[in-house]
Amino acid sequence: EEGISVGELAQKMNRNASDIIKLLFMLGKMVTINSSMDDETIELVCMEYGVEVKKEIPVDEDSLEDEVEENPEDLVQRPAIVTIMGHVDHGKTTLLDTIRKTRVVEGEFGGITQHIGAYQVSVQSKKITFLDTPGHEAFTAMRARGAKVTDICIIVVAADDGVMPQTKEAVDHAKAADVPIIVAVNKMDKPAANPERVMNEMSDLGLLPEEWGGDTIFVKCSAKQGEGVQDILETIQVVAEMRELKANPKRNATGTVIEAKLDKGRGPVVTLLVQNGTLHTGDCIVVGACFGKVRKMTDDRGREIKEAKPSTPVEIIGLNDVPVAGDMFKVFDSEKQARAIAERRSQTKIEQERKSSSAMSLDDLARQI
Ligand code: GTP
Ligand code: MG
Repeated sequence: EEGISVGELAQKMNRNASDIIKLLFMLGKMVTINSSMDDETIELVCMEYGVEVKKEIPVDEDSLEDEVEENPEDLVQRPAIVTIMGHVDHGKTTLLDTIRKTRVVEGEFGGITQHIGAYQVSVQSKKITFLDTPGHEAFTAMRARGAKVTDICIIVVAADDGVMPQTKEAVDHAKAADVPIIVAVNKMDKPAANPERVMNEMSDLGLLPEEWGGDTIFVKCSAKQGEGVQDILETIQVVAEMRELKANPKRNATGTVIEAKLDKGRGPVVTLLVQNGTLHTGDCIVVGACFGKVRKMTDDRGREIKEAKPSTPVEIIGLNDVPVAGDMFKVFDSEKQARAIAERRSQTKIEQERKSSSAMSLDDLARQI
């Protein structure tokens, strides 16, 4: 027998062993406190409690060693996932649109894109994935839910306006997420453009430009006229290369919900970002507290695809309910397992909601008294 026992895992997770026994019972596994658990079962339990397996739980040293030895050859480079942030009207949408249009130049544009909240472009035959976050709130909400999706942050600052309150917010977000920042000094075509001022003000926020001896890359551009946009894309590739972004396409897919909606005809329509593994049509998937089979999958250009590799945004249908942006997803080998986990999770969610609503009404009561 290898692996750790239910009791040991409970101790490591700071949980009651009886909770874990109950949980596994609900998932169709009969165990006692002394039963040893295989990796998959440990992973199941950890997923239930929202704990990351490898980092937090030192499982059997040997098997961990094996994983580490086995993994490097499975790991391949994946596209960088990039978010664009900045103050209102400084040009985020224009920049995203201009970047999206570079596809036309590369001749790989398949009609006007159906908008799925994320898209990929190729730069020097390497892809970059852009997340089309509508604003800082979405970013904050995703981060609050523990979603870690961005590899690189572009902060757009209008050269004729300089650093503004939301610029500072964006810098804070990027720093909290611990991702490299590229500053796009935008609207350089405007007569009032003053890039030195932007560099000065950003330096005050701790982002010293490379040309002044710091390590933040500033790229001057005009999102509207397209100048400097190619530089931004190439800079992203350079920064991405330094980060050595890798993933294992041979695993079952995991990732995050970018957006989700209910479509009258098709049911829940969900945009997922595959972050590790490969997602296939027909895969059994748990998404937040929802589950289902990936019935149909389309890419960012609305083309039907059968599989999606790491860093690929896709739209899927086939879930039983609508998840929330920032929810994580994971593919399981059996539909039964996926269903059991999803049901258990939605049960937990209902309980939590009940608890928090009763707590609130007690609070209200106290205030009234
Ligand atoms: P919000 O989504 O409202 O926060 O704004 P945004 O950051 O997405 O800015 P958006 O791209 O909508 O641009 C705001 C205005 O600035 C628009 O009128 C753009 O046409 C204009 N604009 C954006 N980039 C440039 C640029 O490089 N030069 C000039 N002259 N105008 C620009
Ligand atoms: Mg915008």
